[in-house]
Amino acid sequence: MFSGYVERSLELHLFSGRIMKEHSLFLKAGFTPANASFAEKAEFFRCRFEKLLCEAVKLADGIVSQKLLCSQEIVTEFTALAEKQTECFTGIPIDNEITCMELRLKSASGKGCERPELRAAVKKLNQTALSLLDGLISFKENILQNVLCGEMFTVNYPLLLEHVIREAKLYRESVERLEKNSCTVNSSKMDTECFWNRIMMEHAMFIRGLLDPCETELFDSADKFADEYCKLLEKCRNIHSPAMNDDSLELTRKFRDFKTAGVQGIEQHKIHSAILPLLADHVLREANHYIRLLKG
Ligand SMILES: [Fe+2]
Ligand SMILES: [Fe+2]
Repeated sequence: MFSGYVERSLELHLFSGRIMKEHSLFLKAGFTPANASFAEKAEFFRCRFEKLLCEAVKLADGIVSQKLLCSQEIVTEFTALAEKQTECFTGIPIDNEITCMELRLKSASGKGCERPELRAAVKKLNQTALSLLDGLISFKENILQNVLCGEMFTVNYPLLLEHVIREAKLYRESVERLEKNSCTVNSSKMDTECFWNRIMMEHAMFIRGLLDPCETELFDSADKFADEYCKLLEKCRNIHSPAMNDDSLELTRKFRDFKTAGVQGIEQHKIHSAILPLLADHVLREANHYIRLLKG
């Protein structure tokens, strides 16, 4: 095991473990009574990823970097309220204590990462993540297949299902890299940028599609972001230059501000939409994560 194994693994689970637990919640909330068994399976994954996240948080105190804790990618100032409101709207229980624990996390003290018992606990966590991800990826693929062949209805767009499959696969690849003793969690800079620019473009498209038809000004802003990311993606596919990184960072900072205003407006009931508060916070955290990657 390389020297950053413990820290990198825990940082990955703090961000992506929470993302998977929330995907499971969005899936569960999107089914109709006709698909009760699918809702049950989504709840199973929600609980399992909640447990995995809770274990990662307990192990991470005094281990993870200040950069991660400052990035607002594992939790934002809006997460606690977004969870309370989402629990109330959906009836799906959310363990708010994990969020409180995350807000209290302290950064690396410089000691403790090498403890053999901590390394063993992290290794176990990585194995659990891998097997849970295998299950969740095939579950998501199964839902998408059913929707595409007209056998199932869910309020989640087919593109959103595809999107959450890609995010789960990236998480799985990252855990696998760590387990193969590679010190890089992420793929090449160009692949990372293409991946996340596409994710950001799709967020803009989802926001556009889930806003109330009367929110015309916000439609325009969301359309512009989708368009800008689409242009960056085309550039990204052709050539990768240092300027690319700057363009992606500049656009994503603007998009982060748009998403911040979005989550505030949704939590305060000022924006009319079919967006769950936790989904608004979720896409904001993904932008914060991408910004940290771009800053290097
Ligand atoms: Fe996501
Ligand atoms: Fe996403």
